Amino acid sequence: MATVTIKHVTKAFGDNVVLKEFNETFQDGEFVTLLGPSGCGKTTMLRIIAGFEKPTTGELYIDDRLVSGGKTFIPPEKRNVGMVFQSYAVWPHMNVFDNVAYPLTIQKENKATIKKSVERVLEIVHLSQYAERFPNQLSGGQQQRVALARALVAEPSLLLLDEPLSNLDAKLRESMRFEIKEIQTKLGITVVYVTHDQTEAMAMSDRIFLINRGVVQQVASPEEIYNHPANQFVADFLGKVVFVRGEARDGRILLDDTDQAIPYSGDKQGRVELAIRPERITLRLDAGDLKGTLESQYYLGDVNDCRVRVGQRTVRVIAPPETYAQMKPGDSVYLTFREQIVFDEDGSLDEKLKIMT
Ligand SMILES: Nc1ncnc2c1ncn2[C@@H]1O[C@H](COP(=O)(O)OP(=O)(O)OP(=O)(O)O)[C@@H](O)[C@H]1O
Ligand SMILES: [Mg+2]
Repeated sequence: MATVTIKHVTKAFGDNVVLKEFNETFQDGEFVTLLGPSGCGKTTMLRIIAGFEKPTTGELYIDDRLVSGGKTFIPPEKRNVGMVFQSYAVWPHMNVFDNVAYPLTIQKENKATIKKSVERVLEIVHLSQYAERFPNQLSGGQQQRVALARALVAEPSLLLLDEPLSNLDAKLRESMRFEIKEIQTKLGITVVYVTHDQTEAMAMSDRIFLINRGVVQQVASPEEIYNHPANQFVADFLGKVVFVRGEARDGRILLDDTDQAIPYSGDKQGRVELAIRPERITLRLDAGDLKGTLESQYYLGDVNDCRVRVGQRTVRVIAPPETYAQMKPGDSVYLTFREQIVFDEDGSLDEKLKIMT
């Protein structure tokens, strides 16, 4: 059982402010992901929670206990937190059992307790039959699970995972996602997960905290953040997006660089910026809101990935695979945006500041 409360946390290295005014609470049993581009401050936030880094200002609580802030600083080993580091390290000279047992060994637990705990956690990560092996006799995914088992063995109520799947191949990543999720549900622990992989974040999280340059841009469920991004950065970071600027007037938006308009029932007037998901554009040969020319199409099995010329611009469309056989480059085609997100052209001032700072 653990909640994490972050109050006004800022972190600077010298003049470089890498986290600005973090004010967030992670709920007990929640799976939250800190997502954002490289260098945005994800690892720094995780290290502050773990106690490997002190915040420059602000306070951090685990449950009701102040662990960092003012004159208080509780060291990592007293926080009951499990952590898997970005460059996960299992010790090559120790077998799996000893690697996993390590946190309990240094706590000087008795042998019988250690054996019981290690066996239990190895079973959870499906490594029971590998206890005697050394890391160089394991695959990358198995070593990854050793690191995870080691983080779990002291039964932390809070588990911090920093890009724990980054070194794995695509298939293994996908299956490990489910395993981690299963472990979390089974043990009922709070997980703070760090990644820059948006699919991973979407697949695992209860809530995603999307960060850019040390500032939280949006906090929301995967579905909410994908469908209702708070600003252009969020729309762009999660999923594919086509941005088109235009002029909203009289129930229509006239698109820049085209002489065409789409219907619009919202209440914005004047300059706007549309964000459209390419998979939410209908592509047809006979009718639609916008007329264009098919420039190229790529058959990817599950989808037909197309580029369509509309006026002076090219719009990406992810169409169903069967459209591939129905059209060819050079054909006149029609597009209909089934959904679009309409932003003020530069974002509201607040949103703009979030992007620019
Ligand atoms: N000990 C340090 N001293 C000085 N600068 C640091 C230190 N640790 C991190 N930084 C800087 O803080 C910023 C955030 O780093 P951080 O490691 O938190 O990013 P990240 O979001 O985890 O990125 P990545 O996805 O590449 O792992 C970077 O600009 C980094 O150079
Ligand atoms: Mg990092």
